[in-house]
Amino acid sequence: MTVLVTGGAGFIGSNFVYLLLEERPEWKVVCVDALTYAANIHTLNDAMQNPNFVFYKEDIRNREGINAIFEKEHPDVVVNFAAESHVDRSIENPAIFLETNILGTAVLMDACRKYGIERFHQVGTDEVYGDLPLDRPDLFFHEDTPIHTSSPYSTSKASADLLCLAYHRTYGLPVTISRCSNNYGPYQFPEKLIPLMINNASQDKPLPVYGEGLNVRDWLYVKDHCYGILAVLEKGRVGEVYNLGGHNEKANIEIVKIILKELGKPESLITYVTDRKGHDQRYAIDPSKAMAELGWAPTTMFKDGIKLTIQWYKEHMDWMKECTSGDYVKYYEEMYGKR
Ligand code: NAD
Ligand code: DAU
Repeated sequence: MTVLVTGGAGFIGSNFVYLLLEERPEWKVVCVDALTYAANIHTLNDAMQNPNFVFYKEDIRNREGINAIFEKEHPDVVVNFAAESHVDRSIENPAIFLETNILGTAVLMDACRKYGIERFHQVGTDEVYGDLPLDRPDLFFHEDTPIHTSSPYSTSKASADLLCLAYHRTYGLPVTISRCSNNYGPYQFPEKLIPLMINNASQDKPLPVYGEGLNVRDWLYVKDHCYGILAVLEKGRVGEVYNLGGHNEKANIEIVKIILKELGKPESLITYVTDRKGHDQRYAIDPSKAMAELGWAPTTMFKDGIKLTIQWYKEHMDWMKECTSGDYVKYYEEMYGKR
């Protein structure tokens, strides 16, 4: 079995690569990544030592390049993680999100049609469902909740999902989609809430909380997400969507306070800044379909996962420094300087 993993030098993709090398040692893992700002090639150092792993620096928008990899590697399964993934960046510059997330997905699926494939799996997001009100804790996202996006990012991901379902219906491409809630864990780029706050707090820098910090996200430890994707590949039904989440809802301000407490830093570092435009209020996944059909369930409680995550970053400050040098300084100044 040869699995082509796109975006494998990013956060969730790299965790998935390591999960496959560990859990399915007889499989070959072919990783394709354009190495954008969000990637860190050193994340894959250990994988590079594994004879069942091969890496290609390639852009999923490049049809010739992607076709050439298919001709050489003959993948049986494609798992598409490659994407522009940060909501704030999509608000500043939507175009690259449409190109990578929609057109890049089409290029991959066209290659799958051309060369034949057992499965194309699209890694989707709960953000395609829009948001839920804070005062209705009884409401959750189900697989048939209408698509109702807020940001250019979520719109590009919803478009990609619809394209996958269209390729399934029109061409019979064996597609599955998983839609996951917010992930946390090792190797997440420090533009996202948890690693950004860990990085800033470690250096006694202000922690920029948007609005009043009351927006709620539904947190899933990244390894649990990766097991969920593997379960969809092995047990999921073609043409179906599976929601993955763990009922770990937390307001942003709670997360920030937990991080400060774990690091032994004062709450005076918290700085309330101008809210994100179009900021989604609450995400909350109903994962019961995946649990019932796939026998999947998350195993990491948030209270344990956040400790593991903070400990990982403490032990990998060199990795963090690689991510936060160069363009990151400019990004941070532009995003937060006048906020
Ligand atoms: P990430 O930004 O950490 O990594 C994305 C990876 O894709 C990077 O390695 C980058 O170099 C690569 N990439 C970007 N554009 C590319 C292109 N044109 N060609 C090839 N490679 C390209 O993202 P992540 O947080 O790991 O998210 C992975 C996937 O999971 C995305 O599709 C995202 O929408 C989805 N998702 C993320 C979360 C989350 O909480 N992070 C939750 C649900 C779904
Ligand atoms: O729900 C899944 C989605 O989760 C994924 O599809 C996205 O790829 C991923 O980036 C994530 O999106 P969010 O916008 O929820 O994640 P982010 O870490 O950017 O923000 C989480 C919350 O924290 C959100 O309410 C905004 C807030 N926030 C974020 C940052 C970066 C702050 O208050 N301050 C910050 O500096």
